[in-house]
Amino acid sequence: MDLKQVTLERTAYLPDQLILNGALQVAFAGRSNVGKSSLLNKLFNRRALAKVSQTPGKTQSINYYRVGEKLCFVDLPGYGYARAPKAERDRWKKLMDVFFAQNQVLRGLVHLIDIRHEPTDLDVELHEWTLPLVRNHLYVLTKSDKVKQNQKAKAIADVAAQLEIRRNQIVSFSAETGEGKHLILNWVAEVAA
Ligand code: GTP
Ligand code: MG
Repeated sequence: MDLKQVTLERTAYLPDQLILNGALQVAFAGRSNVGKSSLLNKLFNRRALAKVSQTPGKTQSINYYRVGEKLCFVDLPGYGYARAPKAERDRWKKLMDVFFAQNQVLRGLVHLIDIRHEPTDLDVELHEWTLPLVRNHLYVLTKSDKVKQNQKAKAIADVAAQLEIRRNQIVSFSAETGEGKHLILNWVAEVAA
């Protein structure tokens, strides 16, 4: 995986703009503001390839970052931004439906959850919805620099219990310190091999 060769390959707003075959994909999903774009920038070692903002709902499109010849990292739009108009939420659901159900090349989903908060109903929904549709799942607890070591262990145990997953499927991550970065990259390399 050559992370020095990263380019924004496509920005998709509509189902017919989605890339459903070709290079293998690993997608990054989670509620608005959880830190998806910050995580991608950290993995890529780029300060601002993926747009980061204080305003939730910044990434409204599906953004495909091409890494070398064979792999795409896909930044999915944040869900559950309560103030988004219904038409916007419907558009999101339709886009994600096609993305997950018709994708021939999706090998893994990285589901991001803020380490300071328990998984929400929307997290449980995303988890149950995608479980049968995507082969491999990794759960990343973001913003780990904001909590103490003992709170980290508790958060991992809580997420494992609530989503009924194994603890070794969960990684704590910080875009500030880089904690967890190599575990995530190793996982991506493995599922996209
Ligand atoms: P949407 O595109 O709206 O769905 O948001 P996103 O999930 O892409 O989140 P984004 O990366 O834009 O980050 C949201 C906010 O959280 C920004 O203010 C980031 O600086 C902050 N943030 C993200 N990751 C971390 C982290 O690991 N530690 C800390 N302290 N702040 C973070
Ligand atoms: Mg974003």
